[in-house]
Amino acid sequence: MNRPVIAPSVLAADFANLQSEIEMLNRSEADWIHVDVMDGVFVPNISFGLPVTEAIHKHATKPLDVHLMIQKPENYLDEFKKAGASSISVHYEACAHLHRNIHHIKSLDCLAGVAINPHTSVKYLEDIIEELDFVCVMSVNPGYGGQKFIKNTYRKIEQLKEMITDAGSSTLIEIDGGVSLDNARQLIRAGADILVAGSFIFSSSSPTDTISELKHVI
Ligand code: DX5
Ligand code: ZN
Repeated sequence: MNRPVIAPSVLAADFANLQSEIEMLNRSEADWIHVDVMDGVFVPNISFGLPVTEAIHKHATKPLDVHLMIQKPENYLDEFKKAGASSISVHYEACAHLHRNIHHIKSLDCLAGVAINPHTSVKYLEDIIEELDFVCVMSVNPGYGGQKFIKNTYRKIEQLKEMITDAGSSTLIEIDGGVSLDNARQLIRAGADILVAGSFIFSSSSPTDTISELKHVI
């Protein structure tokens, strides 16, 4: 079993000290920096957008994993690439033309991902799985950090893993929401490759130690 990719979510960081928070992540064993963009329409919360993503990129030495919780993500893909995204995920529920959007992301030389809400079955990805660099399985309802992990996620990971194996694809599985040391091991055993964690990391007494613990949980 490979060590998971650890992607701390800056949604839980201290926005007034973003530079030092990013420098802390640079020094840590984090692999990616997860950037949660919310529009107040697709999700009932507004986080931040392009200027903050650019500011994060200016200080980050690690790839930015941009999670677009927005309607019409196709209108902003080029801009988020310019702002520094290395990977971009769009929501299945926000895309009428998912295949087109995935190819658009790939044409920008970014890893392309699809995020699915807790109520969305992994079955809907069957016809596109081979085209995806990763699937972001939401283990909370998108919109807020600090929510309780939804246990049905384990089953979804197993189904998804089977679909990926059957397709002979190398698609990675990312888990986002309520991830902590309580569930990290079981998530990896079920087939998760990338763990996003916000509040668990940033509210701990030593975020860098917490990141290491997640990285070496298995
Ligand atoms: C939820 C976001 C998550 C969130 C995770 O809408 O997509 O990335 O920041 O936060 P925690 O780890 O606190 O659940
Ligand atoms: Zn996210």
